[in-house]
Amino acid sequence: MNMDGKTVLITGSTDGVGRYVAAKLAVAGAKVLIHGRDTSRARALEEEIERAQGRAPIFYQADLSSLAETTTLAHAIRAECKQLDVLVSNAGIGSMNGGPARQISRDGHELRFAVNYLAGFVLTHHLLPQLKAAAPSRIVNVASLGQHALDFDDVMITKNYSGSRAYAQSKLAQIMFTIDLAAELEGSGVTVNALHPATYMNTTMVRAGGIAPISTVEQGGEAILHLVSGDDVAGKSGLFFNGLSEAKANPQAYDAAARQRLRELSLDLTGLPPA
Ligand SMILES: NC(=O)c1ccc[n+]([C@@H]2O[C@H](COP(=O)([O-])OP(=O)(O)OC[C@H]3O[C@@H](n4cnc5c(N)ncnc54)[C@H](OP(=O)(O)O)[C@@H]3O)[C@@H](O)[C@H]2O)c1
Repeated sequence: MNMDGKTVLITGSTDGVGRYVAAKLAVAGAKVLIHGRDTSRARALEEEIERAQGRAPIFYQADLSSLAETTTLAHAIRAECKQLDVLVSNAGIGSMNGGPARQISRDGHELRFAVNYLAGFVLTHHLLPQLKAAAPSRIVNVASLGQHALDFDDVMITKNYSGSRAYAQSKLAQIMFTIDLAAELEGSGVTVNALHPATYMNTTMVRAGGIAPISTVEQGGEAILHLVSGDDVAGKSGLFFNGLSEAKANPQAYDAAARQRLRELSLDLTGLPPA
């Protein structure tokens, strides 16, 4: 896909791999909508893109640990953009951001499930009309190889909490959502795929976990860009990629009953109507 003139939203683009992807897409001529929480990091990226492209990106500030802020973000984007060619759901927190203890979102949900999965679920649903209006268009969910099956009796992990389990559960939820949404969007011209960008890139979340990086942001960024604009993935949907290659996710991702339970739970937690 030629990105010149295309409108692309990248959540979590004030830092890490999202920032890399936003800058690359701007240079390719896309109208880039950037998002994050931190205004000073956003300003630095705005200036960098304006220098390179001659046009500043649009910055949307929202804390995705709040369903209300996520919904307000979606409404703001809908008000300004009639069409959205690509949504990259990238914002996320790692297993150790904020320490090893269990944390909750503003709505009382386990924090990683809320930020890494539920917020993307809500944002995507609100932006589907703009994505459909731009078809052929794409949704890219930045997940991970770190995946843990959801225990539907304790999705909020009130027992035996660990940050890595919480992170991995949220990442599998993103992949389950991807497969489900692909079926819902069949024939609409909107595709949706998920990926593991690269292992332990040198980013804030990896450093917060005290892990020595083994991949570069460029490696993960190029894998995301492949799903954003690669001609070889045009029309492909409902797939999980490890870097540039199609891969298998955790078996729970292919369990239709588990996906239905997740969908029902997500609609219940977010108050969104069924499709
Ligand atoms: N790093 C890796 O090796 C790796 C491996 C596999 C998958 N991933 C996935 O890649 C994606 C990007 O990760 P990264 O490594 O680039 O992380 P990062 O450098 O820590 O960046 C995370 C981004 O998400 C935003 N964010 C975090 N919490 C948020 C919240 N509550 N509300 C709104 N925005 C929030 C951050 O915004 P602020 O600037 O406001 O903090 C930042 O822009 C994540 O989904 C991650 O799970 C990363």
